[in-house]
Amino acid sequence: MTALTLSTSGAATLRADAIVVGVAKGAKGPVVAPGAEAVDKAFDGKLASVLELLGASGAEGEVTKLPAPSGFKSPVVLAVGLGAVPEKDDTYGAESLRRAAGAAARALTGSKKAGFALPVETVEDAEAIAEGALLGAYAFLAYQDIEKDGTSKKDQNGAKLPLGEITLLGAKPRDKALKAATERAVALAEEINRARDLINTPPNDLYPESFAAVATAAGKEHDIKVQVFDEKALLKGGFGGIIGVGQGATHGPRLVKLSYTHPKAQKTLAYIGKGITYDSGGISLKPAGHNETMKCDMSGAAAVLAAVVAAARIGLQVNVTGWLALAENMPSGNATRPGDVLRMYSGKTVEVLNTDAEGRLVLGDALARASEEHPDAIVDVATLTGAMVVALGNRTFAIMGNDESFRTAIHEIAEEVGEQSWPMPMPAELLKGMDSPTADIANIGERAGGGLAAGLFLQEFVGEDIAWAHLDIAGPAYNEGSPFGYTPKGGTGTSVRTLVRLAERTAAGDLG
Ligand code: BES
Ligand code: MN
Ligand code: ZN
Repeated sequence: MTALTLSTSGAATLRADAIVVGVAKGAKGPVVAPGAEAVDKAFDGKLASVLELLGASGAEGEVTKLPAPSGFKSPVVLAVGLGAVPEKDDTYGAESLRRAAGAAARALTGSKKAGFALPVETVEDAEAIAEGALLGAYAFLAYQDIEKDGTSKKDQNGAKLPLGEITLLGAKPRDKALKAATERAVALAEEINRARDLINTPPNDLYPESFAAVATAAGKEHDIKVQVFDEKALLKGGFGGIIGVGQGATHGPRLVKLSYTHPKAQKTLAYIGKGITYDSGGISLKPAGHNETMKCDMSGAAAVLAAVVAAARIGLQVNVTGWLALAENMPSGNATRPGDVLRMYSGKTVEVLNTDAEGRLVLGDALARASEEHPDAIVDVATLTGAMVVALGNRTFAIMGNDESFRTAIHEIAEEVGEQSWPMPMPAELLKGMDSPTADIANIGERAGGGLAAGLFLQEFVGEDIAWAHLDIAGPAYNEGSPFGYTPKGGTGTSVRTLVRLAERTAAGDLG
């Protein structure tokens, strides 16, 4: 894991592989961002024109490497693009700093140490830089050619270890607020990276039982109570949705309950994650081209685990209960068939018309079970529908819910932590499409508005008078494209920051 250190030493005296500075896009060419004064001075105040001659513009994510000026203890200066120079009186926003730090860290893959001299006006800025750099310094190397001594992990493709140490320059290690903020950044980034690891782990190794074991170990380490309901317990408890989805697979389903409690907590939040460790579609099998990345279908559960552990590590004054609804959706002689009727935990019956609409079945059970404990609010997180990917693209998650102000609060919180999201409606008439002649409800409706119908289906299992929000993260959960900013290829860990900030806000009494 990449280390984070704070240092008051100047850019010239830090012994590292590179010094990272910011460059912004000005009206008349690149502009050196604050924080890099010492570096600019060593270039006789000509760093901006040197960068321009090297082709730099200051565009977001752009990386320019140049030899450090003489007298510097680090051999390289890396200028990372911050995008447009802020308007007068504005500062570089936290998200642009986070992205720039992430892009710089990625460009320094294979290096041991780098000093970051990016613009810092507030503690939040330092925190964003720490977060971005730690998230950018991520690699999933577990399945590549690793030397047994663990020192030089270099795979056959030449991929190297992530940047080893991130030093924030001009940051006093004794500044209490700064120390707390950077410790929070470390906890959060490490947990997001844990979520990414889980998502990237191939489904032959990550199945409900092994996922539950990871949750149990994490709980032990961070003083979180963990209960695992195995197949027998689920059958006995009447969890017909989770059993129905999981019964086709050799690896049986699990429901994991994580309870983080704080003695001074006034409120309790319930977070529920869709944890389909592999979604083949079941008997309604997905065609080739639609199943290669379906190990990512447990991204919601990974996000919930990460958020609960992060809340515990930060010590938030709020109770957070995490529910991981884990199953593998596979076809077999024992699998649920299209046409079967399941009796859900709530007692409602569901006619399964399409076994590929499985997420709502495991979530329905978890929502009903979580509602029994009357939490102050419930948030579920799920890679639920392709329809939402079509609607919002690959970087934005959808927010639905039964309480407009709660939905709006989550949208604003997501924006604040730099996660792209958008509120979506749940038009009541779409519920009609899920009428079933045989059961209380069918698990699919008409194709139009499929992501919204999924939200309406879930709402049927939420307890009365509980504020509930549903995050459909099918788009941003897994990045099949090129890395950008602090986002790697593969599992992204989207929504963890939103969930943690929601818990912080709830702890502070800012919400309902
Ligand atoms: N896990 C998928 C949704 C998904 C699609 C996640 C793309 C990530 C990327 C979900 O279980 C699913 O298969 N949904 C179906 C529902 C349909 C059968 C009503 C879909 O969206 O096609
Ligand atoms: Mn599916
Ligand atoms: Zn699925």
